[in-house]
Amino acid sequence: MEIPVIFQAPLDIFGVCNEPVTQTEKRLITSIHKEFNKAPAIDTSKIRAFRLMKGKRRWMEIGTESKANLAYMTHILDDPNLIIDIDIHNNEEGKKRLYDLSDNLNYHFLEGSSSDAIIKNRIDKILSGIKLDGLFIDGNHMFNYVFNDFASYYKYLSSDGFIFFHDIYFIGHSKSKGVAQFLSWLSTILPVYQISGDRAASLYMPHYSPETVWGGIAIVTMKDILALEKKLIY
Ligand SMILES: C[S@@+](CC[C@H](N)C(=O)[O-])C[C@H]1O[C@@H](n2cnc3c(N)ncnc32)[C@H](O)[C@@H]1O
Repeated sequence: MEIPVIFQAPLDIFGVCNEPVTQTEKRLITSIHKEFNKAPAIDTSKIRAFRLMKGKRRWMEIGTESKANLAYMTHILDDPNLIIDIDIHNNEEGKKRLYDLSDNLNYHFLEGSSSDAIIKNRIDKILSGIKLDGLFIDGNHMFNYVFNDFASYYKYLSSDGFIFFHDIYFIGHSKSKGVAQFLSWLSTILPVYQISGDRAASLYMPHYSPETVWGGIAIVTMKDILALEKKLIY
């Protein structure tokens, strides 16, 4: 279905995401997936969304698994990069492959849950006032964790920064709601945009089928968060 104009994302910001994935992008991600032992499937929404990070320098990713996405980001970001990686698992091989990519990578790995106070304190110390250009929330996909990741870390974004969420249609299970319900709630107070499959960027809309749908990227801009804060603070 064609997206009605009222649901569309502003072209001046998200226009760059609307171009289809190129052969060059596909080749790059395919070779990275091979190198980092990640399944070959290509997530076109990630490639399209992360174009917003071109020319930027500072990236934090919650949930990094193979580290293939971090490797991809080293090709997107300008040098010297600041990359902060939080994961509950320590993937030594993935880290080594990442170090092999660049000599001047300013890379910090934090082993633990993004919801732990120790991790939050360490992030605060590493950044000490430095602002991030992008934050990718892709750790635990349950409502309370996604809420925690957004609420704890959005303040570290620069005024033109972006917060990205993955698996945006995941509705959780009988014991806990998922990313989709969090984003549905968030979109009642802030514009939440989605990049999904090959479709143009638009406002977020949960999936209409009851079965689990993976993938998709949601984006919140720091500009919108600051505008909301301004309205709320007297
Ligand atoms: C879907 S994978 C991440 C994939 C990666 N971002 C990519 O694009 O290739 C999810 C990761 O989140 C990690 N994880 C789960 N719960 C977490 C938490 N509370 N804090 C940090 N990482 C977590 C898992 O260990 C796993 O490596």
